[in-house]
Amino acid sequence: MEWCSINTCRVLVVSVVLLSYNMLLISSPAAAAATTDAQVEAEAETLRNSTWWWYMENTTSHHCTWDGITCNREGHVIQITYSRGYCRRCKLSQLKFSSFPSLLHLNLSYPLIYGRIPDEIGTLTKLTYLRISECDVYGELPVSLGNLALLEELDLSYKLLSGAIPSFLGYLKNLIHLDLGSNSLSSVIPSSLGNLTNLEYLDLSFNQINGSIPFEIGNLKNLVELSLARNSIVGAIPSSLGDLINLTEFNICGNKIRGCIPFEIGNLKNLASLDLSNNLINGKIPSQLQNLKNLKNLDLSHNKLSGHIPTLPIYRSMDLSYNDLEGHIPFELQLEHPPEVFSYNKGLCGEIKGWPHCKRGHKTMLITTIAISTILFPLFAVFGFLLLSRKMRQNQTKTPLKKNEKNGDIFSIWNYDGKIAYEDIIEATEDFDIKYCIGTGGYGTVYKAQLPTGNVVALKKLHGWERDEATYLKSFQNEVQVLSKIKHRNIIKLHGYCLHKRCMFLIYKYMERGSLFGVLSNEVEALELDWIKRVNVVKSIVHALCYMHHDYTLPIIHRDISSSNILLDSKLDAFLSDFGTARLLHHDSSNQTVLAGTYGYIAPELAYTMVVTEKCDVYSFGVVALETMMGKHPRELFTLLSSSSAQSIMLTDILDSRLPSPQDQQVARDVVLVVWLALKCIHSNPRSRPTMQHISSRLRTQLPFLETFHGISLWLLNTQEI
Ligand SMILES: *[C@@H]1O[C@H](CO)[C@@H](O)[C@H](O)[C@H]1NC(C)=O
Ligand SMILES: *[C@@H]1O[C@H](CO)[C@@H](O)[C@H](O)[C@H]1NC(C)=O
Ligand SMILES: *[C@@H]1O[C@H](CO)[C@@H](O)[C@H](O)[C@H]1NC(C)=O
Ligand SMILES: *[C@@H]1O[C@H](CO)[C@@H](O)[C@H](O)[C@H]1NC(C)=O
Ligand SMILES: *[C@@H]1O[C@H](CO)[C@@H](O)[C@H](O)[C@H]1NC(C)=O
Ligand SMILES: *[C@@H]1O[C@H](CO)[C@@H](O)[C@H](O)[C@H]1NC(C)=O
Ligand SMILES: *[C@@H]1O[C@H](CO)[C@@H](O)[C@H](O)[C@H]1NC(C)=O
Ligand SMILES: *[C@@H]1O[C@H](CO)[C@@H](O)[C@H](O)[C@H]1NC(C)=O
Repeated sequence: MEWCSINTCRVLVVSVVLLSYNMLLISSPAAAAATTDAQVEAEAETLRNSTWWWYMENTTSHHCTWDGITCNREGHVIQITYSRGYCRRCKLSQLKFSSFPSLLHLNLSYPLIYGRIPDEIGTLTKLTYLRISECDVYGELPVSLGNLALLEELDLSYKLLSGAIPSFLGYLKNLIHLDLGSNSLSSVIPSSLGNLTNLEYLDLSFNQINGSIPFEIGNLKNLVELSLARNSIVGAIPSSLGDLINLTEFNICGNKIRGCIPFEIGNLKNLASLDLSNNLINGKIPSQLQNLKNLKNLDLSHNKLSGHIPTLPIYRSMDLSYNDLEGHIPFELQLEHPPEVFSYNKGLCGEIKGWPHCKRGHKTMLITTIAISTILFPLFAVFGFLLLSRKMRQNQTKTPLKKNEKNGDIFSIWNYDGKIAYEDIIEATEDFDIKYCIGTGGYGTVYKAQLPTGNVVALKKLHGWERDEATYLKSFQNEVQVLSKIKHRNIIKLHGYCLHKRCMFLIYKYMERGSLFGVLSNEVEALELDWIKRVNVVKSIVHALCYMHHDYTLPIIHRDISSSNILLDSKLDAFLSDFGTARLLHHDSSNQTVLAGTYGYIAPELAYTMVVTEKCDVYSFGVVALETMMGKHPRELFTLLSSSSAQSIMLTDILDSRLPSPQDQQVARDVVLVVWLALKCIHSNPRSRPTMQHISSRLRTQLPFLETFHGISLWLLNTQEI
């Protein structure tokens, strides 16, 4: 028994020695003296008295070693960080703040901390960092907060703070970061905040502020981020906002802001994100927004903006929906953004398929606005072909079309060994009854007609126009003339056409299986389109485009290659169709043009150059080829390729998972070849894309690398030069 207690005593002595030795390690030699310091004792006692560290295993150890406590060389607590729970429920006032006069840094974020912020917080006059966030803390901000003159960061977000934002915050002149977001603060934004000239970050979002933005906000010249989103802020955006030249983010979405967007906003050269959505802002979009060269996200949706959309740079994201905007959508914007971002406006129009077309000068298109989109596009290459060389026109007059004129109708058939009469078509479709309709596209409606001979043809019915538009009739003839010249086994056969003031249709060979897009979207048909057939589809498009670009006297640019414009016959052989926007490239005049094409397939350079070259088709081809192999539009792949994870993506990860991996070596090789070439085609620099001729010859050669099918990564394909 004796022996045992002596032994216990010895252990205690050893541990005391160890403990003091420990303290020498954690603090300076002065710490030894500090053990007698009454202040240090008070700090330790306060921490022990609070229930905050109760569940910590080591509360008997020196408090400076506790989780979340940091002391200075003298042993005074200078930092408290509490984000791990050692208490069941911690009352904020239990941590008697007056006990820690040396505290510099107080960081509390733990949901079980509760209570009001005690007045005592004002005794922490050395504090530079105060964060009480994501706690169950409520009530008003104590006035004593105004004493914390050295504060650089004040974060009281995500709580239940109520009352007004106190104007004494204006005394905290050293503040760099002020976050009072996600509380229930109400009333006005005090103008004294304008005294915080060091502020770089101000967040008052998700509160119930119902005043206006003070003009003094313009004093905060160092502000980088300003969020006032989701309040009930009224009044206008003050013009002084234009003084915040360092601002990169400005968000006032979801308020009751009225008035115009001040043009001074164009001074904010560093602005990267501007969100003014869900307000009552009216007036025009100031053209000064053009000056915001660093802007990446622009959201002006759900307001009352009116007038035209000015020319704006291309942003990563943009939303102008739900306003009262009207007029022409700048061409580059149409190219880069999906139509939804312009929807629900008063009357916006553009050239991209699916958009109402802009009225052209005098009474050209007198058809209702709803019909405009389906009417204007049939006039397809009207513009392109108007530019046909004189030579071409002369050739036409020498070889007039076979005409069958009847009451002013022009009905012409060629390329067809049977007999087709206008009356047969009207009869076969019961004057274009909806029950014969097999599809609608941007240009018109497609019908299936069984002729008396038993043969089936497809009719693309376009819409009529005013009789006096002689120039359109002329250019339509020009186009048909050109289309009739294109004869290639992978380009859809045009049998003839009918042209009349109230009826305009083209007669094509009927394609039993519809579009490539349709087949890829159908779970059953997609399986039928196996790897061999898919590779053949891609090869067919290559042959057709190669012919158009290189084998014809003048290169013909299709301009609207998409999976909807590749048609498949009963044997799933592919044919290029829809030459509605095709045009000849003639080298003697400008290649600049109006926009044509389908969103998702348009070459990116068209956004800024507007110059159409063969390389635009090459890009669209690349998209379609990838879509054929992936079974869906390669949209996600584009984002993946630009991310850092691109290195690790394997070819097999992106191929259509509905099909089993190709077993045959030759088929696997062809699949790799197609994806490899397609990746080259979607290069953002048109000069770096191969020509169709190059692709065509490459498709006949061997792969330049030896990896097994499953070992091929996109990285390898991307880096392997063609
Ligand atoms: C700690 O609690 C004891 C006992 O309840 C009390 O006497 C003492 O004043 C408290 N100390 C501090 C610093 O709160
Ligand atoms: C408890 O404190 C002692 C001395 O400070 C230390 O050696 C030990 O690792 C601590 N235990 C835990 C579980 O933190
Ligand atoms: C405050 O605590 C939170 C949660 O632990 C942490 O994410 C944050 O970085 C801390 N702040 C500082 C300045 O250390
Ligand atoms: C803000 O600055 C003005 C002028 O310097 C001064 O009169 C006012 O008292 C200050 N307000 C606060 C809250 O600091
Ligand atoms: C703003 O909110 C405060 C506090 O909720 C209220 O007293 C005041 O009437 C409100 N002002 C307006 C203009 O709604
Ligand atoms: C703006 O940012 C620059 C660069 O970060 C900095 O030098 C400058 O002090 C900041 N403030 C103002 C008012 O320009
Ligand atoms: C026009 O006709 C001439 C001679 O008939 C021919 O050489 C030329 O290629 C034709 N031009 C076009 C564009 O068809
Ligand atoms: C039009 O494009 C072709 C290449 O496709 C080029 O050779 C020609 O110089 C261009 N013409 C003009 C006027 O830019």
